[in-house]
Amino acid sequence: MIVTENKIKESLSLISNEILNGANFNRSEYARNILNYPAMMVPSVQEPIIKSLSETFEGEVSLLDPFMGASNTLVTGMKYGLNIFGQDINPLSVLLSKVKTRYYSKDALSTSEESIKIRVQNDTSIKKEVSFHNIDKWFKNDVQIELSRLYRAIRQESAIEIRQFLWVTLAEVIRLTSNDRTSTFKMHIRPTDEIVNRNLSPQKYFFSILKRSISDLNDFCSMLSENNFIRKNKYIKDVDVVWGDSLKAINTKKIFDLLITSPPYGDNQTTVTYGQFSYLPLQWIPIEDIDEKITFDYLKTIQQIDSNSLGGKMIDNFSQKKENLFQKSKTVRQLFDTFNLDEQIKAKKVINFVHDLDKTIDNLLAKLNKGAYMVWTVGNRNVNKRVVQNDNILIDLLSSKKVDLITDLERDILGKRMPGRNNFSNTMSKEKILIFKIPINNE
Ligand SMILES: C[S@@+](CC[C@H](N)C(=O)[O-])C[C@H]1O[C@@H](n2cnc3c(N)ncnc32)[C@H](O)[C@@H]1O
Repeated sequence: MIVTENKIKESLSLISNEILNGANFNRSEYARNILNYPAMMVPSVQEPIIKSLSETFEGEVSLLDPFMGASNTLVTGMKYGLNIFGQDINPLSVLLSKVKTRYYSKDALSTSEESIKIRVQNDTSIKKEVSFHNIDKWFKNDVQIELSRLYRAIRQESAIEIRQFLWVTLAEVIRLTSNDRTSTFKMHIRPTDEIVNRNLSPQKYFFSILKRSISDLNDFCSMLSENNFIRKNKYIKDVDVVWGDSLKAINTKKIFDLLITSPPYGDNQTTVTYGQFSYLPLQWIPIEDIDEKITFDYLKTIQQIDSNSLGGKMIDNFSQKKENLFQKSKTVRQLFDTFNLDEQIKAKKVINFVHDLDKTIDNLLAKLNKGAYMVWTVGNRNVNKRVVQNDNILIDLLSSKKVDLITDLERDILGKRMPGRNNFSNTMSKEKILIFKIPINNE
């Protein structure tokens, strides 16, 4: 599957800034409206890059995204007939991605809508199905009762594929009907008077979101059929979406030709709290319906997923590991040197994150063919008024592993759903798309 570097460069050079920053993409074509996951990649970036790369390659292409999030990269890969593999540490991302990368027939979806409606209408029980620490703080009593009816109705669905789709729908309802504010990804309770005055019906939300999601999935699946990628109600290429910590391993034996990803830009706590965003929905979704291979207690605390994510834990042997990183990246060394003694906690967090990223890259390189390409979308951020240049850090780390940048693109990130009030404002207004090539032995 080796293509020449010049061909790739030439093809990517045709992607103009207008295209990258354009809004001319139909969201429903990628099932993007299903669950508003944080920091999703926008189609204006993925579509032209994946299109151009897939046209450059000849024959089968396998795509890896080790931080799949809402799986928009994978879904776009399916539009171009690629074999896809995605992994994420957040169980909600895994559930969502399983749903979005699966072919659902129109009949199966409309039957599921009809039958769940009947089950919910016939359920008048006030029994609560879920309980966890502080549940009454996060959900009003009547909301818990209606959510429990939806929960029972979903559990009665016999097909796991349909249950997973219904759980994702419920996840969105939970985000909208809990007492958590939707304006931030961090959990943040609404003011008491607002909670008292809100009259919400989870059931109403559920059926309206369900209708919209069915229409989105139908659009996506019809597009795949029209592109001749569906046979016997299945996508004809490989689809594999798994739970896993990419810092520890990429959980597949497969080897890939293309890596396209958008990694976290720092530890979740200080950048995007994907875990806190997912905490309340995950309380209502049985783990066995998400992925039987999940091995960590992700609901132990509100912070659990975030602290298990890249850069979330203090590394042991800090000084030695810091020195090793400095050898690999002068950008990190120069940045670290600008921090004062009283800023050490924040400076250490940056080191933790880059250390984890570096280790993850080793895992990724082990899964890529010689001559494979990597496309990383990264943005910079501020830490105590210093710019963390994620783009240069990534270039340094990869260069220390003999992987060179071959070209790059830049875009504005106005359309991306990032946290409002925080350290992203200035330097995060642009994102870099960095394209690297894995050397062939004698290069
Ligand atoms: C920027 S998002 C990915 C966005 C995605 N490309 C999209 O278009 O929706 C980053 C993802 O990295 C995941 N992540 C963070 N640390 C991880 C780890 N150690 N292993 C796997 N995934 C991780 C987060 O859960 C999050 O979903």
